Amino acid sequence: MATKKAAKKTPKKQTKPKAKVKPKAKAKKVKPEEKMFTIFIMGKAHKVPADATIMGAIEYAGYLIKRGAGCREGFCGACATVYRLPGDYKIYTGLACTTLVEDGMWLTQLPVIPGQRAIYDLDKLVPNVATIQKLYPEVFRCVACNTCTKACPQDLEVMDYIQAAKRGDLEQLMDLSFDCICCGLCAIRCPAEIVQYNVGLLGKRLYGKYLSKKSPELKKRLKEVKSKKFDKEYKEMMTMKKDKLKKKYYARDLES
Ligand code: SF4
Ligand code: SF4
Ligand code: FES
Repeated sequence: MATKKAAKKTPKKQTKPKAKVKPKAKAKKVKPEEKMFTIFIMGKAHKVPADATIMGAIEYAGYLIKRGAGCREGFCGACATVYRLPGDYKIYTGLACTTLVEDGMWLTQLPVIPGQRAIYDLDKLVPNVATIQKLYPEVFRCVACNTCTKACPQDLEVMDYIQAAKRGDLEQLMDLSFDCICCGLCAIRCPAEIVQYNVGLLGKRLYGKYLSKKSPELKKRLKEVKSKKFDKEYKEMMTMKKDKLKKKYYARDLES
């Protein structure tokens, strides 16, 4: 639920206290007025706080969100939402947990987005354009309309990473799709029926397995883990009190 807006106070009437009123008497509290918007959820009008997120507004209106919500912080991609605004032809997209309501907003539930995903064995793939062609041939139907980029709540250059996939540029595909949260909003708007986030995942996997520079530090650390070097410390942390654990976390060494 969205936090409520700081109370908007109605100015108090300045009246001269009558002689009988004790000087220390408490002034009557003025109930703060909350600004409300009207939004439509599946065709029904609801008054909701003007500063609510879509998710908060749905719950404020009395609906229980059982699916389509996860982190509530804009990270998990579970709450992809489509809406319209009055007098506006466009279809808008956003994450319900981070997008604020607007007056007159129309919200409608959509069925789950069918995110077609290729099945593959990463160990048997070759990191090149032919692999993209074989697993996601629809990538080559991209008409460069840029609708996917406009739909992305993460502000990623979605069309550009699809173009990188077309060229077999796995490094750029990995790089540009790195912050994707797999919400699926790009895919529901794509006229070429491309499921961009799955193409991005393939790029990241191929790059990570075959092309990224191998890290000697990682090799060393894995060896240490296998030799049980940190077992004692892990055990201590697993039984540590929350406050102490928090303190330890914030005091940890960070890479510059
Ligand atoms: S690239 Fe697509 S799936 Fe990923 S965050 Fe952007 S809109 Fe969501
Ligand atoms: S929406 Fe689809 S067709 Fe349009 S640019 Fe994005 S990937 Fe290409
Ligand atoms: S609930 Fe996780 S992104 Fe909205």
